[in-house]
Amino acid sequence: MTTLTYFGHSAVALQKDNCQVLIDPFLHGNPLAGEKVDLTVQPNYIVVTHAHSDHLGDAIAIAKRSKAKIIANFEIASYAQKKGCEAEPMHIGGAVQMPFGRVKLTQAFHGSTLEEDGRVITLGNPCGVVVSMGDTHVYHAGDTGLFGDMRLIGEDVPLTVALLPIGDRFTMGVKDAIKAASFLKAKLTVPIHYNTFGMIQADPQAFVDGCKANGNAAQIVAPRTSIEI
Ligand code: NI
Ligand code: MN
Repeated sequence: MTTLTYFGHSAVALQKDNCQVLIDPFLHGNPLAGEKVDLTVQPNYIVVTHAHSDHLGDAIAIAKRSKAKIIANFEIASYAQKKGCEAEPMHIGGAVQMPFGRVKLTQAFHGSTLEEDGRVITLGNPCGVVVSMGDTHVYHAGDTGLFGDMRLIGEDVPLTVALLPIGDRFTMGVKDAIKAASFLKAKLTVPIHYNTFGMIQADPQAFVDGCKANGNAAQIVAPRTSIEI
């Protein structure tokens, strides 16, 4: 069994046995995550899909505190190493075998900039990721628009869960995310990246209903709750 915990926005933890993989740990300043979660999580690995502050989030600080290894595209991994973190570099289309399972980066249509000391730096291309732990395969789309090759991601491994942004404006909205779910054919689809801020308001129930109408199982996971997958 793998436990999936949703912290709101795009922050998700996968826990199997004694290993926790934390994805896009935007916790401090995330109004859905609750107070001081960034100071209490104890991941073994942190996956970062892209450099935007609502995804890179607290990755560096948490990695330093917990000694977690950061897994990300080459540019973010190099940045993390320069900040004194251990990191595993990789890139889109590539997979790496980790002690807990397999990580594969997928494409995403978005940006990957970071503002630091008043300057904007670009840290490679944005990514999605498939994290495999045993027979459990979780696709986290990161931030992306809809693309037809999502079909290939669902064909590569039988997806247990697909985590899809539905907040519109910066990513897919509800209508496109419903189509994405039908491309991916995951056993369960869960909406993310919505209602964190006013600019990404969306109706997760409309998303779930739309998925179900197409025969794709979907479920809202409330922030700060867990499901067994
Ligand atoms: Ni983004
Ligand atoms: Mn985002």
